[in-house]
Amino acid sequence: MTIQWFPGHMTRARRQIQDKLKLIDIAVELLDARIPLSSRNPMVDEILLNKPRMIVLGKSDLADPRETEAWIERFKYEGHECIAVDASTGTRVGEIPGLAKKLLHEKIAKQLSKGINPRAVRALIVGIPNVGKSTLINRLAGRNIAITGDRPGVTKGQQWIKVGTEMELLDTPGILWPKFEDPIVGYRLAMTGAIREQILNIEDIAFFATRELISRYWDTLVDRFGIDVERPTDLEDSSEVVRIMEAIGRKRGCLISGGNVDLEKSSGIILREMRAGKLGRLTLESASTY
Ligand code: G4P
Repeated sequence: MTIQWFPGHMTRARRQIQDKLKLIDIAVELLDARIPLSSRNPMVDEILLNKPRMIVLGKSDLADPRETEAWIERFKYEGHECIAVDASTGTRVGEIPGLAKKLLHEKIAKQLSKGINPRAVRALIVGIPNVGKSTLINRLAGRNIAITGDRPGVTKGQQWIKVGTEMELLDTPGILWPKFEDPIVGYRLAMTGAIREQILNIEDIAFFATRELISRYWDTLVDRFGIDVERPTDLEDSSEVVRIMEAIGRKRGCLISGGNVDLEKSSGIILREMRAGKLGRLTLESASTY
């Protein structure tokens, strides 16, 4: 889903989430485990007010497991419950209701002490487009639900989806915007496929991706494409990055007249294979450096 985030849309998205907050006990903030910072809304604390919140690192099957562990520790240190899941297969998704209950343990204990039987925890999933909200809702629900964007008058048509006996989910997720004014965030979102290529130029995205791969996953890059080249030492020198893109293109037969490399084709290959996980599990933002 591609959304143009003009100020009016942001205000509406924010209002829609805040309307829903009145209906729920906890917010589930879904981030992409490969880019936990770039997939985060810059105003999330402000938008979610003081609602208890858990952080779910989605697409963890595509992320570097060691980096994911470091992010979990980091978020826990900051006071959030946090779990990494793979919603495409369901790995660890089943632990979310238990974690939600843990988050509300004080409230639940209070109710029990007054002889009140606590009802299921009511939750809302929030996150930027394409982070995996619908996939996670379907996985938690255990069936496919037609998930639409926000409808007008959201609080009226809202449905609760039962997740076992302990949790109920709102059927429409809260859609947040990314920190798109930062170009690096834009490129990281594009690299992971969260922003469609029509918005940014494919060669620019692949250039950015190749530079990140050279700096963070050089051996993987060399192994995957079988290139025999010297590692660039100065990543500020764009011709050095292009040299690697050309080597990849040459290896894959992306040639045009005069023996030159078709950079657009080579860019497509780099991005496709990276997004499909062919270069292994990659994380582009480390908890230790932020
Ligand atoms: P959204 O509601 O937040 O906009 O995101 P959505 O669930 O539509 O997911 C966006 C893409 O991310 C989908 O792929 C979906 O399959 C994929 N995805 C979601 N969660 C995970 C995960 O944990 N692991 C992996 N590997 N992928 C995940 P798509 O290519 O856009 O669609 P499709 O090919 O799956 O139909």
